[in-house]
Amino acid sequence: MRGQGSAGLEAVGSVAVRTFAAHQGHRMQGVTQSAHQSMDGHHVNAMAGDGSGAPHNHFADYDSLPEGHFYDPDAEYEPDPEYAATLAPDAARQRRERIGPTGRPLPYFPIPGPLTDHGPAKIIAMCNQKGGVGKTTSTINLGAALAEYGRRVLLVDFDPQGALSVGLGVNPMELDLTVYNLLMERGMSADEVLLKTAVPNMDLLPSNIDLSAAEVQLVSEVARESTLQRALKPLMDDYDYIVIDCQPSLGLLTVNALTAAHKVIVPLECEFFALRGVALLTETIEKVQERLNPDLELDGILATMYDSRTVHSREVLARVVEAFDDHVYHTVIGRTVRFPETTVAGEPITTYASNSVGAAAYRQLAREVLARCHAE
Ligand SMILES: Nc1ncnc2c1ncn2[C@@H]1O[C@H](COP(=O)(O)OP(=O)(O)OP(=O)(O)O)[C@@H](O)[C@H]1O
Ligand SMILES: [Mg+2]
Repeated sequence: MRGQGSAGLEAVGSVAVRTFAAHQGHRMQGVTQSAHQSMDGHHVNAMAGDGSGAPHNHFADYDSLPEGHFYDPDAEYEPDPEYAATLAPDAARQRRERIGPTGRPLPYFPIPGPLTDHGPAKIIAMCNQKGGVGKTTSTINLGAALAEYGRRVLLVDFDPQGALSVGLGVNPMELDLTVYNLLMERGMSADEVLLKTAVPNMDLLPSNIDLSAAEVQLVSEVARESTLQRALKPLMDDYDYIVIDCQPSLGLLTVNALTAAHKVIVPLECEFFALRGVALLTETIEKVQERLNPDLELDGILATMYDSRTVHSREVLARVVEAFDDHVYHTVIGRTVRFPETTVAGEPITTYASNSVGAAAYRQLAREVLARCHAE
């Protein structure tokens, strides 16, 4: 699967831009079909890590609408009743009163109108030093959803593990040039490092393990915290949104991301230790605000991997809303095995399973993020 998405080489002007044409061809055959072909039930369960070994996974049933039905991004967001049950304990009440999963009335986020010109970019850092909370998944899928709405999007893989690159079908080990070169080599232009993804309007600055050296090498640089900001500057007019996928630490790379950013999104997994470490994160954000980047704002807390059928998930979400109130996005991302599958497929859920509720959730998040930006 990932092999199908591996990069071919295409010359654009004097610059070699790697594209994912093979990937695109594979998508043209129909998203649902490729989704079903790509994995058997056992594999799905193995990815979900539920340990049951059963071939059937409950969540896998949500993905496709009946023949002839297509996801209509213009339709008002009306979750599938079964999925709504994973988001709200009382699905009927949720529909009647339009109460969102966070317990607050769910506003309608309008479909963003088309743009006639692009830029300057808003830079969003996807940040939480806790591992495995959905940073990379949210970067890919928020980016893809914004791109679907006609926004030009650049994703920056700022984690030496290269998970964002892998999630977009790139093999990080095969890359000659990465964001590392852009940071460390003077005179290196972003065009040499940029990759086009299979998603129209969405590009990638990939990374691999080389980036881990930057953390050490940057220490002796002048203005070391603003290295990424300087590297992104020439790209600002080409994009509407730049989303940076941070690594799970609060080290110098993450401080660089926060210094470059206008906004931070903090994904929080709805489980017991979700709030642990958040105080340290908000403290770091405040320090960067005071010392390096007065424009930085916490845009929102994004609850991920939520399943309201467990009392635990509901309690955690209630506590998160209690602690952060309006900072918590109305959009909540449910737990579904579709996300681990998309990593294997090397593409966003919006193309891999376009009609799935996971895709709908990230489209709604994109609309909520756009609505917040326009409210300013
Ligand atoms: N809503 C979801 N439902 C189920 N699984 C999910 C969901 N979101 C992410 N996952 C899975 O959880 C794992 C961790 O997600 P992800 O890689 O996005 O987290 P991360 O915060 O970027 O991790 P790291 O800190 O290691 O960079 C992945 O296997 C991903 O596919
Ligand atoms: Mg990650």
